Amino acid sequence: MIKIAPSILSANFAALGEDIKDVELGGADYIHVDVMDGHFVPNITIGPLVVDAIRPITKLPLDVHLMIENPDQYIPEFAKAGADIITVHVEACRHLHRTIQLIKEQGIKAGVVLNPSTPVDTIKHIIQDIDMVLLMTVNPGFGGQAFISSVVPKITEVREMANEWNPELEIEVDGGINEETAKICIEAGANVLVAGSFIYGSSDRAQAIKAIRG
Ligand code: DX5
Ligand code: ZN
Repeated sequence: MIKIAPSILSANFAALGEDIKDVELGGADYIHVDVMDGHFVPNITIGPLVVDAIRPITKLPLDVHLMIENPDQYIPEFAKAGADIITVHVEACRHLHRTIQLIKEQGIKAGVVLNPSTPVDTIKHIIQDIDMVLLMTVNPGFGGQAFISSVVPKITEVREMANEWNPELEIEVDGGINEETAKICIEAGANVLVAGSFIYGSSDRAQAIKAIRG
């Protein structure tokens, strides 16, 4: 079962509620929320206030992607605001195991994100503790960038690790997902696809969601 997680980074922030309802009606499985702090990535987006505001708008799980330094400081607040899944970058966590435990203590799902150049080995020893691995297929910070195809073998690597150690693990990809790249990622072993500009840039979001689900 392939799940689609539209990224609201490409939505109209002046009509965020409507844009979220639109993709929910269009068949989305998760709402992907990109949190950027201007330090870990060169862009600033949204904080817990916005997560709190959109929580009553949708029944879909909120998949909160933290692209921030020192995530431990903000995890309880994002969980309280209504996050169902929080993913943290391995590159931003000095004590990754502790951070994962902190997310799980909030009673929600925990995931780990790898930048395109970060090897899969970095999650080998915590793969049984997590619910999701998110592989960045662009350098994080902005929507609308081109898919980095050298990440594809990493998807297969994580899928093989998951088969052995954590068959329930969700493998999500994020960045530059369109009809063609979605197919490549699914074939390599991904089961959750994030898409921002492809879905929100389309006049028929339901059709765009269908197209990438394959
Ligand atoms: C990038 C974000 C992505 C972004 C994807 O840093 O993590 O979620 O919104 O946008 P597209 O699908 O346009 O590449
Ligand atoms: Zn993201």
